[in-house]
Amino acid sequence: MIIKNAFGTTADGRAVDCYTIKNSNETEVDILTYGATVNRIYVADKNGEFADVLAGFDTIDGHENHSDYEGMTVGRYANRIANGKFSIDGVEYNVEKNEKGITCLHGGAELSTTLWKAMIVDDNSLEMAYTSPDGAMGFPGKVEFKVLFTLHEDNALKIEYFAVSDKKTVINMTNHAYFNLAGKGDVLNHELMINADAYTPIDENSIPTGEIRKVEGTAFDFRQSKKIGRDITADDEQIRIGRGYDHNFCLNEGDGPAAVAYEPESGRVLEVYTDLCGVQLYTGNFLDGTIIGKGGNPLIQHAGFCLETQYYPNTPNMPEFPQCTVDAGEKFYTCTVFKFSVK
Ligand code: BGC
Repeated sequence: MIIKNAFGTTADGRAVDCYTIKNSNETEVDILTYGATVNRIYVADKNGEFADVLAGFDTIDGHENHSDYEGMTVGRYANRIANGKFSIDGVEYNVEKNEKGITCLHGGAELSTTLWKAMIVDDNSLEMAYTSPDGAMGFPGKVEFKVLFTLHEDNALKIEYFAVSDKKTVINMTNHAYFNLAGKGDVLNHELMINADAYTPIDENSIPTGEIRKVEGTAFDFRQSKKIGRDITADDEQIRIGRGYDHNFCLNEGDGPAAVAYEPESGRVLEVYTDLCGVQLYTGNFLDGTIIGKGGNPLIQHAGFCLETQYYPNTPNMPEFPQCTVDAGEKFYTCTVFKFSVK
């Protein structure tokens, strides 16, 4: 079942809608037209008690004025492009430098602040569509984006990204949900597994240095499930730069989950499946309690963790990374599944 409700109005007078997808387990997923944002995931714990497992905002004002991309669809290029610059076939493109005036972060202020056009596909699928004009944020190509959100009966939220450009361009799409499986507090006690033997260390501007570093023997080794908080303050240069985890993991190939999170008190489990090569683990390091989130509660440091499935950061400038360039007319497609259960 899908229900549509009004969610408020942006400062410039645009009316935002919220679509709730509900399955027969009473699991609910709210999706806003603003930013094609997954705004709430309401799911049972091991005792059948429901809670919202996403940190973020319950007002449009929160999203507009204090956003750290909570739940948003981000693109055209999720994560960072160094110096807001890259070339395709010898032509240089300068894109919005929305981070410290140096770096392009999450494609600039377009996709996540626009109103997407919603279409109910069936009882459990909602499509969000947006056409980005050629040159938007400096990127080449008019791109037709579609994101299909499907809530399955097994409590799996499948997010499929479709895009077609009329010029050769780069595309990297993700969702920026901040999960908190307890529905409260911080996430340091969550246990996390990431199926990655290596990660991409970053420089002081959070740009990959180009090294693919083995996780073995470092704070970045999540191959065996461990508490997010265990090594988050480890004496490690990379942890210092990120103020915790804010890094891309190079996913191992295979059919199993890319990541699994477990919160012992609620018993909630989140499995993440993706066809992408990377995932950014961001542990809300820069949240500091000064911003008020859902229910009037401050968004404290580590209030949520993000598992942003993606091409590696700065790929357009890194020929040695798996590439995300699409030709004119080529169909871009990627899929990520967030599956909830209890144990
Ligand atoms: C980035 C963080 C950033 C956050 C919110 C993450 O994807 O890696 O550095 O603070 O998004 O913008």
